[in-house]
Amino acid sequence: MTAGIDFFPATAEGKPEHSRLDISSKAFWAGTADEREARFAQLRAEDPVSWQRPVEDAVAPDPHDPGYWALVKHADIVRVTRDSKGFISGQGVLMDLLPARFLETTQSFMAMDAPRHDVLRRLVSSAFTPKQISRLDDQIKQAAKEIVDSFASDPSGEIEFVSQCAELLPTRLFCDMFGVPQELRKQTIKAAADIVAWADPETIGERSAAEVGLQASEILHGVAAELIAARRTNPTDDLFTNLVQAEVDGQHLTDFEIGAFFVLLSVAGTDTTKHTSAWTAKAMTDFPGQREWLKADYDGRINTALEEFVRFASPVMNMRRTATQEVELGGKRILPGDKVVMFYPSGNRDADVFTDPDKFELSRDPNPHVGFGGGGIHYCLGNQLAKGALRALFKELLTRIPDFQAGEPSLLGTNFMRGVTRMPFTFTPEKA
Ligand code: HEM
Repeated sequence: MTAGIDFFPATAEGKPEHSRLDISSKAFWAGTADEREARFAQLRAEDPVSWQRPVEDAVAPDPHDPGYWALVKHADIVRVTRDSKGFISGQGVLMDLLPARFLETTQSFMAMDAPRHDVLRRLVSSAFTPKQISRLDDQIKQAAKEIVDSFASDPSGEIEFVSQCAELLPTRLFCDMFGVPQELRKQTIKAAADIVAWADPETIGERSAAEVGLQASEILHGVAAELIAARRTNPTDDLFTNLVQAEVDGQHLTDFEIGAFFVLLSVAGTDTTKHTSAWTAKAMTDFPGQREWLKADYDGRINTALEEFVRFASPVMNMRRTATQEVELGGKRILPGDKVVMFYPSGNRDADVFTDPDKFELSRDPNPHVGFGGGGIHYCLGNQLAKGALRALFKELLTRIPDFQAGEPSLLGTNFMRGVTRMPFTFTPEKA
């Protein structure tokens, strides 16, 4: 995936000054979501395609890196995402500069281009068809019920929402899909959370960010290797078995390819949904009228509302592409090799597309948000599964402890996930 990285060396030649509206400092990403949004609003108005200096304190700094173009308008994000020949993923999709080994072991086909991307994606897509997802529906509902059972009648009427609720459903579904046994679940879930926290001071502590990420990816590859070997001898009906048996152009996937896909999904499928649940609980506290609107006809309104959950949360903050040809965007000349980073939370607050973008408006329809990406070949493969989990969880919460109140969230300090690490959550206990 990093092969060909020198093919289009990015250069500072012909570039403007780095933008005075800087979004590369560590301080910027350590700030609050509102502070970041204020800067993005300024960029949308004054410099929608800005030339930014390289990320400060990158995990694996590159002295030759001239910087990147930052796209903050909805239309530009959609245009770049849908042009997968003009803007490729095979040279990396993260904004931060990370060690090559980390990228190889974690990104799977998200950081590949056609035709290899399409072949691998087709292969795993069979686990994500609407039919497959609806087969999982009862399992998802049951899991959501059990999770809410675990605290709804607690007389304290108080939990820490992220660890006691938000993270439980997506991690359980992920482990169920892959058939991860109970005894390996704790370490799998911890490693999956560590992988996206590479720049978060609270997670990395005294260790280096590269060390934390690499160690977590090795743990996940270890779990995958163990399960791949087990499924070869004893096939079951889980995703590992499908991947072990699958053939692409007459060839089997290598253990490493299967492991990298497992790592990709351990993050893509869990943290994203977890943070969306947390931001949604907070938004329902801040916009009580919206909660009442949804409760009045949950089943009839939830599918429209789910799009707003994702727009408002925008848990994935950015994805990168690399330009393969010269092109003009927002009046700027992008050259082959230039890095182009798309900022989804900003696109989702673009007033050219969304009326009152800062309002959590559950009846918003149409809602062409870019929370799952701007379309095209990399569009989120798990979007239906994520929506199924959110639908089931909020049904339980809104019917059983409908007066819940979320307190102030503590935030993950990275430039990739708009994440909540802890959030107080209170409610009137359900009568046991
Ligand atoms: C609310 C929850 C979620 C959000 C906001 C989200 C968001 C995203 C975004 C922004 C992308 C990149 C799109 C692009 O580059 O154009 C993506 C890709 C992906 N997502 Fe999700 N995601 C979520 C849940 C899930 C779940 C539950 C799974 C699987 C279990 C999943 C699997 C994937 C995969 C495999 C890709 C890579 C697709 C490709 O490159 O072809 N996601 N997601």
